[in-house]
Amino acid sequence: MGKATADLRNEHEAILHVFRILDAMRASNSQDAEQQLRFGNELVNFLKIFADKCHHGKEENYLFTALEAAGLPNTNGPIGMMLHEHVLARQHIAAMETALAEKDLSAFKQSALDYQQLLRAHIAKESDVLFVLADRVLDDEKQTELFENFETWEEKVVGHGVHAALHAQIETWEKEYLSA
Ligand SMILES: [Fe+2]
Ligand SMILES: [Fe+2]
Repeated sequence: MGKATADLRNEHEAILHVFRILDAMRASNSQDAEQQLRFGNELVNFLKIFADKCHHGKEENYLFTALEAAGLPNTNGPIGMMLHEHVLARQHIAAMETALAEKDLSAFKQSALDYQQLLRAHIAKESDVLFVLADRVLDDEKQTELFENFETWEEKVVGHGVHAALHAQIETWEKEYLSA
């Protein structure tokens, strides 16, 4: 496995881990409306920064362009499909935000569920198909170059302080929702 695809796979695992927390939170039913709204806002913040800006940004700005340069089709091909799903994911996040602003928990839960379903399938397609292909067509040198671009991107859109805060956030959620 290449260095760049390994980094993206790690981020997929982090997103899937947060989805397990969201599943547990949904099943617990022990949170009052205020707690659910607070968690919802924290979740949207995590998804916007980590899943969208950082992770989808790395894919769109670096990996997908490298794959296109290596001959993989964008329009009517796997890259175009992944880009389209990133757009749909953003629409679900926007719907979650609107629902939270209106304190509409049932609309929030539906949008969160839609987002999870879309992204779980999206992550499976990337990890099982696209990244396997990427490991075949991108050599070690290219993967290292991409990884270095990822690091610069992450520092630009997330930064060390926010990155640490997001990790601390996940730990707080684990204690609150996974150990219950
Ligand atoms: Fe993606
Ligand atoms: Fe991804």
